[in-house]
Amino acid sequence: MKTPEYLVPLREELTAALKQTDNAWSFDIFKHTPKLESFTKECLRVFTPAAIIEIMRDKRSEDLEMQIIQGLQFDSLQLPQDLLWDDAGQTLFDELCNSSAYYLTRKENEILQKNSSDMAATIAEGSALIELGCGSLRKSGIILSALEKAHKAVTYYALDVSQESLQNGLAQLHKGLGDLDYVELRGLWGTYEDGIAWLADQHPLTAHKSITFLWMGNSMTNMHLAQTQSLLSRMADTCIGSGIQCQLLVSVDSCSGEDIVMGAYNRESPPLKDFIMNGLQSANRILGHDAFCASDWTFDTVLDRVRNQVQVFYTPTRDVSIHINSQPCKITKGEKVAVISSGKWPEPYFRSMVEGIGMQVLDVWRDSDQFYSSIRQRTSRERKSGSTLLLHIHNYIRPGIEGICVS
Ligand SMILES: C[S@@+](CC[C@H](N)C(=O)[O-])C[C@H]1O[C@@H](n2cnc3c(N)ncnc32)[C@H](O)[C@@H]1O
Repeated sequence: MKTPEYLVPLREELTAALKQTDNAWSFDIFKHTPKLESFTKECLRVFTPAAIIEIMRDKRSEDLEMQIIQGLQFDSLQLPQDLLWDDAGQTLFDELCNSSAYYLTRKENEILQKNSSDMAATIAEGSALIELGCGSLRKSGIILSALEKAHKAVTYYALDVSQESLQNGLAQLHKGLGDLDYVELRGLWGTYEDGIAWLADQHPLTAHKSITFLWMGNSMTNMHLAQTQSLLSRMADTCIGSGIQCQLLVSVDSCSGEDIVMGAYNRESPPLKDFIMNGLQSANRILGHDAFCASDWTFDTVLDRVRNQVQVFYTPTRDVSIHINSQPCKITKGEKVAVISSGKWPEPYFRSMVEGIGMQVLDVWRDSDQFYSSIRQRTSRERKSGSTLLLHIHNYIRPGIEGICVS
């Protein structure tokens, strides 16, 4: 208990009240316990338990175990990026976000602070706002308070694979936003795929006129391009198939300054190191034994100009043999095992990505410090149903590149 000094007066008040009711417990007891009533109300106000809906379809650890085994059998070795997002990984990622070199969070915060009311204006009254991979929810409050200020009734769903992040993040949001008259907060515990299945199978949101998907932290670039395209396409189809208009608000990093980019992904930086190396511990936990011995492994980061991304990979410091299901998998010293990438997408790349799945950019917001910009683009996508998918983007841009860079 954070305030133990409240215990004695509350206990005294309750003891006296129970004497008056002959030790009978009912809600009427609050008539005799004004301190307890006030304390309870305050606790509920500050720590309102938001409804978290479990939408996970598969047992996650089994799914991840399968992905680890398969990834180590590919010609180009890989481990699932999901290993990074266990509870410890979420805390370590937050520390990385707070580090000065990790410009993405700083830039995104700046863009949100400056443009949140314009962004809120694009979200329809009575709609649902689904944040994909919400993490700690630190930035989400900026948009939610703009919606509350604009008196927009919106149901917000924070979706993530981390239950702990959802619980802590939603409690912090409640605390930070105070009493909400217009915005309702909920959680969806599951993967992006679970989110699509939830929308498709149950049509839980048909009461809403439209859905806005919010995808921050440059997360849409963490997957293979084809996976991102497939996910966005299916999200759009699911909404349109249910007759719900939808739009997407995403952030994408298009920084082209190599020093700035590689400063954020410097393998010597302790927050990055802790975050990435935790992925191997997470793999050991899922496999149920120490398959990856930490002292045999390191990691590195490479800027791939062709794919417009920073690639993060593990590499053993000596020849190792990983035993999975009693089968040895030999990995030689210096061999790369890919784990996650972070896109740095210039405008033509981004445009071809979204146009390739029949979307157009609607609006783009830029930051204003002359180093980066966030662009608001408008895109429409016609489907058989005639519904339209709108795409809103905010991004980070490095000037001095030919034309305008959007990512
Ligand atoms: C790069 S972090 C971004 C967090 C937060 N949105 C931000 O902007 O700081 C990615 C987040 O997506 C979540 N995530 C990763 N893969 C996911 C998946 N397949 N389904 C749902 N959430 C996922 C992670 O748990 C993590 O919280």
